[in-house]
Amino acid sequence: EKAVKVGLLGLGVVGTGVLEILSDHQEKIRNSIGGPLTVTKALVRPDENKKRLAEKYHVELVTELESILNDPEIAIVVEIIGRIEPAKSYIKQALLAGKHVVTANKDLIAQHGSELAALAQERHCNLYYEASVAGGIPILRTIANSLVADEITEVLGIVNGTTNYMLTKMVQEHQTYEETLVEAQCLGFAESDPTNDVDGIDAAYKMIILSKFAFGMTVTMDQVSIKGIRGLSVADVVTAEQLGYTVKLIGSTIKRTEGIAVEVSPVLVPSAHPLAAIHKEMNAVFIKSSGIGESMYCGPGAGARPTATSIVADLMTIVNKIQLNTIGHCFTAYTQPTKLIPADK
Ligand code: HSE
Repeated sequence: EKAVKVGLLGLGVVGTGVLEILSDHQEKIRNSIGGPLTVTKALVRPDENKKRLAEKYHVELVTELESILNDPEIAIVVEIIGRIEPAKSYIKQALLAGKHVVTANKDLIAQHGSELAALAQERHCNLYYEASVAGGIPILRTIANSLVADEITEVLGIVNGTTNYMLTKMVQEHQTYEETLVEAQCLGFAESDPTNDVDGIDAAYKMIILSKFAFGMTVTMDQVSIKGIRGLSVADVVTAEQLGYTVKLIGSTIKRTEGIAVEVSPVLVPSAHPLAAIHKEMNAVFIKSSGIGESMYCGPGAGARPTATSIVADLMTIVNKIQLNTIGHCFTAYTQPTKLIPADK
């Protein structure tokens, strides 16, 4: 039985979740991939808390990327630092060193995914990022694998937990925009700078990744029509509710005759639509396709254990690919690109 060793870049809440899942489910994982899967090193700035974690899970804390990249026993690197730099150059260096990479970084994959995927392919390495969109919902895998024989025409998503939490609290408890934002920050699903959440940027990143999977399109941020929830008042959302609509921040990527249109905007969702029932920090992705018809996938979009569960599933997928000696990555599962057209204003 062959052990597979993993290096973590970053060891925050999600990294802790990865160590917990690998430890709690070690027998199931071992049976599935035919050997143990363990984190042996983590690149961090060590503090007391991290040292305690490292001791508990037998992880060596390192402060130089090279300690991981030059370790021939480490096959896969997990990037959970977030933002663009240094995450991007770390991932590139990892791929150049022949390591497979798993990341949860939506900002990075949305903006530089094609470049990183090309490098991964060139290096015969895998690059997986299920946790980058709707953290705990296996939506990329579903589109790439389960809907592979289907033709998607429309993807509508509630893909930002912070704004969905805020809108839910505003309508249900009449709390103000400011109060609900502070709560979302305290609960830990808002970004460290919540601008990206409330202004629709975080949702746009996720819709860019979903557009790639659903339609094979490489969409850039300036091609997405983006409007956030800033400026919405309790009166707005309560009035909408009384008229039979629920205000939701909806990301959409829609196929039209001329091409696809990608947009993020607050939408009046009819209260009977399944997306209207997605409350608080929950995420959901509603898909229209010619084969299945309408389907919806919902679950937690953030949080340590949901995100870590998706990361560990990516790790196991890569181990299976290594064992089967197949290469390739999510980006190869796409349909043919069509043209991009501006979203309806
Ligand atoms: N800030 C994000 C959200 C976290 O609120 O959904 C998960 O990407």
